[in-house]
Amino acid sequence: MPEPVPAAGRVHLVGAGPGDPELLTLKAARLLAAADVVLYDRLIGEGVLDHCRADAERIFVGKRRARHRMPQAAIHELMIDRARRGLDVVRLKGGDPLIFGRAGEEIASLLAAGVRVEVVPGVTAASGAAAERLLSLTHRDLSQTLVITTGHRQDGSLDLDWASLCRPRQTLVIYMSHYTTAAICAGLVAHGLPADLPACLVESATLPASRHLGGTLATLPDMVAATPIDGPALLIVGEVLATGS
Ligand SMILES: C[S@@+](CC[C@H](N)C(=O)[O-])C[C@H]1O[C@@H](n2cnc3c(N)ncnc32)[C@H](O)[C@@H]1O
Repeated sequence: MPEPVPAAGRVHLVGAGPGDPELLTLKAARLLAAADVVLYDRLIGEGVLDHCRADAERIFVGKRRARHRMPQAAIHELMIDRARRGLDVVRLKGGDPLIFGRAGEEIASLLAAGVRVEVVPGVTAASGAAAERLLSLTHRDLSQTLVITTGHRQDGSLDLDWASLCRPRQTLVIYMSHYTTAAICAGLVAHGLPADLPACLVESATLPASRHLGGTLATLPDMVAATPIDGPALLIVGEVLATGS
């Protein structure tokens, strides 16, 4: 195989934070203001794109659950194409690009194509959700371990490592768990966590529509079933929920 020819342009994978545009980093704002091309996802907070140059090419490549707007391979091709034309590309992702952001595949394809790539971290949704509740996810009296995992079903089943999730003195933050909240809560209790352990579904953290539905592993599923949830949501489980505001 021939050696890839280094492209003149480059791609920055940039974290946009969980929604509040003020949680954008200074570096993200600077790169957005300089970018020729910005590829952005659905969960980009309103106001974040205001940092783009007026003449920048903005491409929505967002995905909705079960409805992928643009195939991942097409996103790779777009980034490679624009970088090879010598353009500065920002690939803007919600939260932190390296947490459930498909950054791994994008980095691999860019490197394989000889495109220079850099990552700019962002505030992940778990941090945004915890901050607005004044919640220390690793409160030293209550939790020594923070587990970040996904509640997204793989091939229709919840493929979680229940034994490790049910260890004592840890906090769980489960992304993409809105549709599986009931199954997760039931699974955690079935594998040994107390039914009265605090659990909270956080919707649209750091945005004006932010909502925290707090209960226990036993009560939360009914609360979630009775509440229309439109925004992105994650589940927090653990004793630390008894602290904060
Ligand atoms: C594909 S993952 C992307 C995560 C992102 N890279 C991050 O670091 O926050 C999308 C999931 O992140 C969570 N999420 C993103 N923004 C959120 C927000 N503002 N409030 C609550 N959960 C959020 C939800 O679980 C959503 O289904």
